[in-house]
Amino acid sequence: MLVVRTIAELRTAIQENKSKQEKSTVGFVPTMGYLHEGHASLMRRAAAENEVSVLSIFVNPIQFGPNEDLDRYPRDEQRDLALAENCGIDIVFLPSVEMMYPQETKTKVVVAQMTASLCGASRPGHFDGVTTVVSKLFHMVQPDRAYFGMKDAQQVAVLQQMVYDLNMSVELVPCPIVREEDGLALSSRNVYLSEDERAQALVLSQSLQLVQEWLAVEPVLTTAALADRIRTYINGSPLAEIEYVEVVAFPSLQPLAASFPMSERNTDVLIALAVRFGTTRLIDNRLLQAVQ
Ligand code: PAF
Repeated sequence: MLVVRTIAELRTAIQENKSKQEKSTVGFVPTMGYLHEGHASLMRRAAAENEVSVLSIFVNPIQFGPNEDLDRYPRDEQRDLALAENCGIDIVFLPSVEMMYPQETKTKVVVAQMTASLCGASRPGHFDGVTTVVSKLFHMVQPDRAYFGMKDAQQVAVLQQMVYDLNMSVELVPCPIVREEDGLALSSRNVYLSEDERAQALVLSQSLQLVQEWLAVEPVLTTAALADRIRTYINGSPLAEIEYVEVVAFPSLQPLAASFPMSERNTDVLIALAVRFGTTRLIDNRLLQAVQ
């Protein structure tokens, strides 16, 4: 596994790896590091499905708001490199902030509308930072496939829209959420949770699990009723502070009418949650397939 820190080294390394085989595809996993099993599942898949696999580790400052956790975002380069090697990654790109942003960014990639709701509502500018850095990374790596976890379902939908609108020749591969044995979705931010918060954080996955049971008993449950039940369940946990519980069409992220019965959904439906435990903000979601 090759570790590179400059864009020039990255491009040379990819070219050299590609030229070893007559026909080769590049699989790319962009991350902010502090890798866990969720990232490992993306890396293994990128390595298995492509001749050349590239991982980037870059804590992207422009996707953090002024009062967010940029400074305390967890980092562990040595552990990340060991995991990447174990997953079969060929090239790791570890750029500095100066390498990615040698001067103030004057060009931004902005996906409109879809970035104003859900996480975009409480994190203004966040998705502009994500789409800008991912486009830059796509230009540097020129991947055939890029792998993203569905825990960030809105990010997947927004990036799919960007790739479509800008005719980028990369296939986005959404990958399933990886969970702890007790159901908590893996996240680099889980390390911030105290013991009590970690225990109570299970209400996210539990409430999403219950959706299936509620709909089995009452398939005509409306969007509003479903969201209310989830809120009531999560509010049963004293440390949980709900930021949002949303039921929207996927991948358009268009809101569904409050009175819309779930039994009539003719698109996939995303149930998305953001809940704070102390200073830690957790997200989770469940995708329901269209029934008609
Ligand atoms: O999902 C993430 O870790 C980040 O948003 C990404 C896609 C690596 C962009 O910085």
